[in-house]
Amino acid sequence: MSLLASFTVIGGTSSESLARKIASRLRSKYIGCELRVFPDGESKLTLKAKPSGKIIVVHSVYPPVDTNLVRALALVSQARRYSSQVSAVIPYMGYARQDREFLPSEVVTMSLVAKLFKAAGARKIVVVDIHSMIALKHFTIPAKNVSAIEELVKHFKKSSLKDPLVVSPDMGGIKRAKNFASLLGVDYIALEKHRDRKTGEVSIKSSEHREVRGRDLILVDDMISTGGSIVKAAEFLKKQKCGRIYASCTHALLIGDAEKRIRKAGVTKIISTNTIPGRTSIIDVSPVIVKAIS
Ligand code: R5P
Repeated sequence: MSLLASFTVIGGTSSESLARKIASRLRSKYIGCELRVFPDGESKLTLKAKPSGKIIVVHSVYPPVDTNLVRALALVSQARRYSSQVSAVIPYMGYARQDREFLPSEVVTMSLVAKLFKAAGARKIVVVDIHSMIALKHFTIPAKNVSAIEELVKHFKKSSLKDPLVVSPDMGGIKRAKNFASLLGVDYIALEKHRDRKTGEVSIKSSEHREVRGRDLILVDDMISTGGSIVKAAEFLKKQKCGRIYASCTHALLIGDAEKRIRKAGVTKIISTNTIPGRTSIIDVSPVIVKAIS
């Protein structure tokens, strides 16, 4: 019997399908849970079987963020009753954008989230393309970030694109774009984005980018939330007379009518991963998560 078989994977309500894939790759036991939501909104979780061995709880923290956070913590805490070796795999780590004080007296909630996972009993945390490495530094238990970029690039390698160019919608994403472009074997550029810290409003400050003319572009970001960043970038790039625009991200939150607005701005297709299940989430991150665990 393989050593890997000593794992039990618990699939939380936000990540059932991904957790099953992880369990299958690890050739380990999978346990799901039953959920009952009380009229006041409280979640009641019940494990469908008893876990044993090293336990991996898989639970993304996407909207409703606070609800999913409490469910993830509750499952970690329950798992801790059966094992001292509990790892929390949080494919999408909510609150990672609140990793520092941007304006005076802002609460750095990521710091509390990190403390909560430790207090609940997690010995190790695995996240996928966390918004910033500063967010990861709030953890005082071993915390590993794995990247979905290779998996996303594999998809684009199979697509037929005209003279492709990778574009980061902001300077903060330049390293990601560089990495994506180098794996794909193409060039990259980064736009200059400004976000008003009070209103959240996004604007593109770059003046012109003639090199995009006639070329197919891949807009690469870690996440798409309201779609504001991708919409502004796509509108700008269309004005520069580019070819088709694809949007590639790890986490597609696609809040409200984000997907519709992104398409209206001229984006042909959105490609994202199953850290957040959805229509665009066609790339499976279970291989990279399993590599980090085993
Ligand atoms: C910002 O730094 C991030 O990398 C994303 O660009 C941003 O969070 C996406 O949010 P939205 O879709 O609301 O513009």
